[in-house]
Amino acid sequence: MYVLALNGSPRKNGNTYALVSLFLKQADKHGFETKLLNSSDFQYMPCTGCKTCEKIGFCILKDSFEQEIFPFFRKADIIVLSTPVYFYTFPAQIKILIDRMQTLWSRKYRLKIKDSGEFNRKGILLSVGATKGENLFDGIKLTAKYFFDALGAEFIDSLCYRRIDHRGELENHPHVKDDIKKLGNKIFKPFKNRKTIFFVCRENAGRSQIAASFAKNIAQDKINVISAGSNPAKFINKKAVQVMAEKGLDIAFIKPCSFDHVIKNILPNIIITMGCDQVCPVVPGCKIEDWNLPDPADKTINEVRKIRDKIEIKVKNLVSSL
Ligand SMILES: Cc1cc2nc3c(=O)[nH]c(=O)nc-3n(C[C@H](O)[C@H](O)[C@H](O)COP(=O)(O)O)c2cc1C
Repeated sequence: MYVLALNGSPRKNGNTYALVSLFLKQADKHGFETKLLNSSDFQYMPCTGCKTCEKIGFCILKDSFEQEIFPFFRKADIIVLSTPVYFYTFPAQIKILIDRMQTLWSRKYRLKIKDSGEFNRKGILLSVGATKGENLFDGIKLTAKYFFDALGAEFIDSLCYRRIDHRGELENHPHVKDDIKKLGNKIFKPFKNRKTIFFVCRENAGRSQIAASFAKNIAQDKINVISAGSNPAKFINKKAVQVMAEKGLDIAFIKPCSFDHVIKNILPNIIITMGCDQVCPVVPGCKIEDWNLPDPADKTINEVRKIRDKIEIKVKNLVSSL
């Protein structure tokens, strides 16, 4: 399971960094894989409000934001938005990233294709500010609510600390460590108590992605679903993206990944293999089932639709059997 954190502070090793680091340490203790993105490391262009993404589902700005950033968010089970208060809102660097999520909002609400990870994904907000104003975090909380909604994450909690200004002050806060521990127990435990299905094919670009998307959509938050490949491709298969969009499911920004990486972090209950030949993973004590399905790689769009439909039936049967 995967925790993605976004640090909105431009100050190196500041209070926000200290706060989000405490949370990521907890995630690590619970066995979650973690990733931290610092907004000040990026130089992406700000949204220009052209609204093209509402029509085509992609951004026309000529930078690599979508390819580099969206895959992290599509993979995340838990998203942590962490930020200092700047003039009662977010610093400019992180606001650029937040606004660029408009493409995901457009895909969900204008084009009506949903990321099936959204049934299981949780969002939390961590924030610090120097003053003690009653409404200090109101603006940030509202932005967080709509940010998480665009990303298909349920905004479940926030930890916001007033009167934190100079570097090092957060670490000395009397109950921040206890707060983080309690939040960690609340957010991580449900994931650990569920069964995990692991879909594996060769490139993790077609069959296993289609299966994972259906499984997440059908099982919702009852089962953890992951997928990987024995020889991961660079990009997801465009025909697979198209045929899943026809079903209302969005797999466009998912990045194929290797099963070696997954197995290091997770012990699945069942592995479904789909043509990864002799190099399929073997996990002691884990049930393995092979689904004999053709590789959509060089198939026509109609053939890929047939493969998709076969996978959907198999996934329905699998989920109802667990
Ligand atoms: C440009 C700027 C604007 C700020 N605006 C506010 C504010 O409106 N309210 C507040 O309480 N603190 C404000 N602060 C203080 C920061 O929120 C505070 O120093 C915080 O601890 C910084 O976190 P960091 O170390 O993670 O950057 C501001 C700081 C800066 C640099």
